[in-house]
Amino acid sequence: MKIGIAADHGGYVLKEIIHPFLLSQGLEVVDFGANELDNSDDYPDFVLPLAKAVADKEVDRAIAICGSGVGASVAANKIAGVRAALINDHFSAHQGVEDDNLNMLCLGGRVTGYMAAQELIIAFLNARFTGEERHLRRLQKVHLLEK
Ligand code: RB5
Repeated sequence: MKIGIAADHGGYVLKEIIHPFLLSQGLEVVDFGANELDNSDDYPDFVLPLAKAVADKEVDRAIAICGSGVGASVAANKIAGVRAALINDHFSAHQGVEDDNLNMLCLGGRVTGYMAAQELIIAFLNARFTGEERHLRRLQKVHLLEK
């Protein structure tokens, strides 16, 4: 599985921890930056290229990190085909995929500790969309807004 990651300055430290963690899990990682800690950088500059890569299926799933995870999720959901959510609990990390076909996990680098983040990431990556009719029906109503 190919995983895209991105972070602004608020998520940079956590991104630098999860990057080697993902590699240790045998995953291919594409890092969309930031490539250095710059307190004046802006999350859309990293999250939107990542979101476009998800929409274009250049990566299978994505993890975006800003300080709270809020800005990352707001920006990513502007891109058609992206289903991003700020996740802080284990249940939502897998249920978001199973029911809502979540393809981008957003984390708060200033909120979620690195061990908890790793567990959320594993739950997210191991989960699969069930494809059940009621979930497809609901997603279809969402996707109509993208036209
Ligand atoms: C940056 O200071 C911070 O606003 C950003 O990382 C993020 O938390 C926005 O939602």
